[in-house]
Amino acid sequence: TLPSPPGPLSDTRTKLVNVPAHPWIAPGENDIRGPCPGLNTLANHGYLPRDGIASPSQIVEAVQEVFNMGNDLAVFVTYAAHLVVDGNLITDLLSIGGKTPSTGPDPPSPAIVGGLNTHAVFEGDVSTTRADAFFGDNHSFNETLFQELVSFSNKFGGGFYNIATAREFRFQRIQDSIATNPQFSFISPRYYTAYAESVFPIVFFIDGRNSTLNLDLDVARGFFQDGRLPDGFFRANISTTLNRVGGGIDAIFSAHPIEPGANNGSVNSYTLDPDSADFSDFCKLYSDFVTKTVKGLYPNAQGQLLTALNQNLDFFFGAIADQGCTQVPPFA
Ligand code: HEM
Ligand code: MG
Repeated sequence: TLPSPPGPLSDTRTKLVNVPAHPWIAPGENDIRGPCPGLNTLANHGYLPRDGIASPSQIVEAVQEVFNMGNDLAVFVTYAAHLVVDGNLITDLLSIGGKTPSTGPDPPSPAIVGGLNTHAVFEGDVSTTRADAFFGDNHSFNETLFQELVSFSNKFGGGFYNIATAREFRFQRIQDSIATNPQFSFISPRYYTAYAESVFPIVFFIDGRNSTLNLDLDVARGFFQDGRLPDGFFRANISTTLNRVGGGIDAIFSAHPIEPGANNGSVNSYTLDPDSADFSDFCKLYSDFVTKTVKGLYPNAQGQLLTALNQNLDFFFGAIADQGCTQVPPFA
């Protein structure tokens, strides 16, 4: 049996987390990094293994300790990624970037076990500082996008990345992909994570002693580009739970509501997808994720794999047990 994910922090107050025991060290040639600036930062400071291969428990522990991510959000996001993307469910290891033999022998296809870089399961289009997979690199820091973020911050956020900036930049990234990416896809779960990721820099990258909700752009660059905590960085002084992120998502989404959909193989052909979960039904996000996304990758799991899959699905549901959703029955 697999270890249960860690519980919540017992002390959620702000504190210094860029400490001498966790120095920033640039990743070595064989160290894996990926599309998530949060996880890249944790690996560069040795809060996750520096090679970029970690267990879900290690990830939950690290995001709570360093960023004060709430336990429900940490478990939900981590197990979502582990279950569909890199999760090697038997070895309990995932890569925070590209596919690697270091996570152990692969399960039968169509399971991917491809690392967080894998496109269209967890990683998706319209990222803040990473380009769409269609353009060739969905995981590296992109200076052109960052410059666009800077100009939006100047125009809408008084020179900061904040909710006012996020409302406009989130919409701009969507408009940009509609107009330039014939394969643009914006359906659940990416539909949700795109908005959540626009909230994350505000709730996680701002020093816990600063209550302005304004993220300085040099600090932002340090996280997005270098995966680096600022010198003397204190973690957020409040745990960010699923509900807290939901509030941020509402604030961003309400400025320019757009429903899930995709381009149809040509640019400017955005067509709504009425089958995709949207913000009106969080439980459909959960149940579609299990019955479509996960089941699609593991249609015939058996033995040890089936057991591990169901354990992971239990951990995943545990994160949202108090959101009023009904648990999808175990796979048989
Ligand atoms: C993006 C995974 C925690 C900040 C991503 C992406 C993945 C990911 C796969 C790429 C999605 C995309 O943009 O296409 C995870 C997992 C986590 C986690 C499994 C485990 C809890 C965090 C934390 C932070 C964070 C703690 C902040 C401290 C971000 C941001 C982006 C992102 C800001 C958007 C990057 C961009 O678009 O430029 N994450 N993440 N994540 N993540 Fe994480
Ligand atoms: Mg992306």
